[in-house]
Amino acid sequence: MIRICYIMVTMYVCICNRLKEDTIRSLAQEGLGFNEIQALTGCSSVCGSCREFAEEVILSVHARPQQASSLQVLAGNAL
Ligand code: FES
Repeated sequence: MIRICYIMVTMYVCICNRLKEDTIRSLAQEGLGFNEIQALTGCSSVCGSCREFAEEVILSVHARPQQASSLQVLAGNAL
């Protein structure tokens, strides 16, 4: 028997606000930019040392071809 075990590891982007990369990535996938994500989550509003990494995560999401966001999927299911 072969067992395959996946361990999902998500990094903290902002320690001060306990924000994980998945959270930032999800918001970026909804089309939000850094300023909007900062306003919603407080990311980079305490010590600011996470700003560069947060921006990298957001840019990496926005650089990818667009996938349907969860809001679009929900809207599609409602139609
Ligand atoms: S680590 Fe994000 S504000 Fe300090």
